[in-house]
Amino acid sequence: MCGITGYIGYKEAYPIIINGLKRLEYRGYDSAGIILNENENFKLRKTKGKVSDLEDKCTDLNTKATVGMGHTRWATHGVPNDINSHPHVSNNGKIALIHNGIIENYNTLKIMLISKGYVFKSETDTEVLVNLIQYMQETQQEDFATAVRYALNEVVGAYAIAVMEIDRPQEIVVARLSSPLAIGIGENEYFIASDASPFVEFTKEVVYLEDGEMATITLEGGVDVHKIKDNAKVNLIIQELKLSLEEIEKGGYDHFMLKEIHEQPKSIMDTMRGRLLVNEGTIQMAGILDYQDKFLNAEKIIIISCGTSWHAGLVGEYLIEDLARIPVEVEYASEFRYRNPIITDKDVVIAISQSGETADTLAALKLAKEKGAFIYGICNVVDSSIARLTDAGSYTHAGPEIGVASTKAFTAQLAVLTMIAIKLAKHKGVISEEKFNTLIAELETIPNKVRDVIKNTEEQVKAIARLYAKTSNFLYLGRGYNYPIALEGALKLKEISYIHAEGYPAAEMKHGPIALIDENMPIVVIAPKTDHYDKIVSNIQEINSRKGNVIAIVTENDTQVRNMVSQAIEIPDVSECLIPILASIPLQLLAYYIAILRGANVDQPRNLAKSVTVE
Ligand code: G6P
Repeated sequence: MCGITGYIGYKEAYPIIINGLKRLEYRGYDSAGIILNENENFKLRKTKGKVSDLEDKCTDLNTKATVGMGHTRWATHGVPNDINSHPHVSNNGKIALIHNGIIENYNTLKIMLISKGYVFKSETDTEVLVNLIQYMQETQQEDFATAVRYALNEVVGAYAIAVMEIDRPQEIVVARLSSPLAIGIGENEYFIASDASPFVEFTKEVVYLEDGEMATITLEGGVDVHKIKDNAKVNLIIQELKLSLEEIEKGGYDHFMLKEIHEQPKSIMDTMRGRLLVNEGTIQMAGILDYQDKFLNAEKIIIISCGTSWHAGLVGEYLIEDLARIPVEVEYASEFRYRNPIITDKDVVIAISQSGETADTLAALKLAKEKGAFIYGICNVVDSSIARLTDAGSYTHAGPEIGVASTKAFTAQLAVLTMIAIKLAKHKGVISEEKFNTLIAELETIPNKVRDVIKNTEEQVKAIARLYAKTSNFLYLGRGYNYPIALEGALKLKEISYIHAEGYPAAEMKHGPIALIDENMPIVVIAPKTDHYDKIVSNIQEINSRKGNVIAIVTENDTQVRNMVSQAIEIPDVSECLIPILASIPLQLLAYYIAILRGANVDQPRNLAKSVTVE
């Protein structure tokens, strides 16, 4: 939710900041802005729209400034327009600020500042903070960084901020509470950003600020980190950045989403690499092994997550209950937090999050930790806030996911959950050695099978997309393990094509959605050969009687369902617990190609953001 970036050094700051903003656009893209400090003068441009619109507004900027910062916005307070865009500048014109997060007590602070004569142009909480810094500077007579610190101590909420003062072109002050902030350290140059992608080609040395920390970055003094609360000095921990430029570029694909769909054979293999050791007959997962007693003796496992990660959690419930026979509950993080949940120190709470920064998931996890539960993370982004908060965890290793609609991170989450479930089942002694060995051998074949599904279905799915691209509604149905996949298929379609789509358990169709079915309604039914096959055949018959158009995902060589439906998309025959990974692929492709035909921006769908750091 909002991306921030900045540069201070000896190079021209403008191209570095614009390029950085483009890489952070996944975090929000309804407005963008940049401010540069050139010879103690601010050069500010901001606009509603994308970073490319900002570039159009900067054609006359003509600057060689070597310090500046930029922002790409996902609106919270105030509609997306030029005035509400960041950076915001204080009343005296001397302080500029960019912000990712929410200042919850902004209204109280704003009223106080208005009473002191401050004037506000925008509706944002951010403009309140920048003026509060001015107020602190004037009333406390303190240096710039101290004024920032005093102001932050008055603030309730979440933030990653960067602040510049006009008279101090050699300095940027940054701070974080709940929203991420990375500092790249180069040779006589420093970068700041919501994640490390804006500076990956410049340096591999990175410092991640912790919650409650701020840093003063100067060319002479480097990075000086302190606690916001009491100014206590914090030792600098420099980490090596393990991200390459190649990983964050489109690599010849039209969109990141298509690239990421095609990357899945590799990303799933990367997820399993070094863990799934078929020849040794084992699954190596240190996070599980070290804490296996916690899992095996858990009264229940609670999975908390949001969005697509929540759908992975639902599959996780089927996997862990079915294979390992441990009770699992799956909760939306936002609901879990506010309903006084019953959690004890005998519970294991698993948070699933691609970004590792989702505010609701993070807050729910903190609650679970306070109540004494053992907390485990399944995150994609290494060193993210959730990854650092948890007692243990398993990274998904899917590589950077940039398309807002999650694809490869989802299947990597499924792969991790599958390994966890099979491993726990073995340690608990509830599956035989033989079944364990069969399952891990089969799991090892999944990356190649995913490759086959992409190769064999992409053209067919494109043709199906042409038939249904103008439709207004879609229904997705599945049973058992594939019910969450129906939910995920529907979510993918609505996220990027703006077609209304609903996922439902197939049998529940009779209790409502069936009323919607007529010859204009396409219904995607996930109907592979499982123990529920006959039941799902009956559901398809019920749809046919109402003239609905069924697009079915079927097991290869299926004839029964194929003869009943308008289109049948084949996936390989695998054990039921492995079908979700394979069934997801054609649904991702269907959403992608329908969205393309409708002219939608698949990588940056309207109103959405990839990393939701507000509650
Ligand atoms: C946003 C993204 C989704 C994602 C969800 C949860 O809504 O657009 O793709 O599934 O957040 O994000 P997380 O990073 O916690 O998995």
